[in-house]
Amino acid sequence: MRVLLDHRRPAAPGARVTASELADLYAFPRGRRWVRANFVTSLDGSAVGADGRSGSINTPADNRVFALQRDLCDAVLVGAGTVRAEGYERVEPSRRRPEPPALVVVSASGRVPEGLRTPVEGRGAGLFLTCSAAGARRLGRARSALGSEAVVVAGDEEVDLGAALDSLAARGLRHVLCEGGPSLFSAALSAGVVDELALTLAPTLVGGDGPGITAAPRLGGPAGLAVWPRLLVEEAGTLLGLWRVSRS
Ligand SMILES: NC(=O)c1ccc[n+]([C@@H]2O[C@H](COP(=O)([O-])OP(=O)(O)OC[C@H]3O[C@@H](n4cnc5c(N)ncnc54)[C@H](OP(=O)(O)O)[C@@H]3O)[C@@H](O)[C@H]2O)c1
Repeated sequence: MRVLLDHRRPAAPGARVTASELADLYAFPRGRRWVRANFVTSLDGSAVGADGRSGSINTPADNRVFALQRDLCDAVLVGAGTVRAEGYERVEPSRRRPEPPALVVVSASGRVPEGLRTPVEGRGAGLFLTCSAAGARRLGRARSALGSEAVVVAGDEEVDLGAALDSLAARGLRHVLCEGGPSLFSAALSAGVVDELALTLAPTLVGGDGPGITAAPRLGGPAGLAVWPRLLVEEAGTLLGLWRVSRS
């Protein structure tokens, strides 16, 4: 993997990076609360391949950086739609990270995705963030499936992401990797809680009418919400980067 742009070292474009340098480039800022959203898209902006999943447009470089970022964060935050579409059950431990990050699932309906209902050995700590609109019956079912301490109610009609992140920080989960999907990412941008976007551009064009990385509503002013590149790396045609998100 080679560096194309590193805002901290402007004189180093083209330099190849070792695994530990890559880990340093993708590290979360020490001592600060930080929310990084992570996505992969095709060059024509689709967040999914023909099968409706992101897995089909991943590349080896993206997989490596995806796994690395899971190793570096405290919690993986993900919308229930992605959990259902991608079949999430747990965050796997890794060689570098035997105790995986907490899996935190966001849902307004309070409907626990199938894959989370069955106990999985070594699943690790997980949280289910939902809101009052889920209703007493669904909340009761979620509590009996996941345990009362794993179900957090924040907000009325949808999850109040600011309050939810406060409650994660109170549990020591300060470095949050949001793995989407587009609806959750848009809600988080609208709530002003996203610090950074990690985006991979896979060298493929998929066409179709699959989702992009955001969903309605429109963001920012006429030109959208400004973002600034902090890091760009490349491997075998895959472009990966970190983009600082302005808080409007
Ligand atoms: N390319 C990539 O990197 C990438 C990454 C992630 C996902 N995807 C793709 O994106 C598609 C899924 O899109 P999506 O927009 O449906 O995904 P999503 O944002 O993960 O899921 C939407 C669901 O998450 C819950 N949710 C989101 N924001 C919420 C909020 N503020 N408050 C309460 N609940 C909230 C709701 O769950 P309930 O329905 O339970 O209320 C909502 O229906 C899939 O095809 C997936 O493969 C691609």
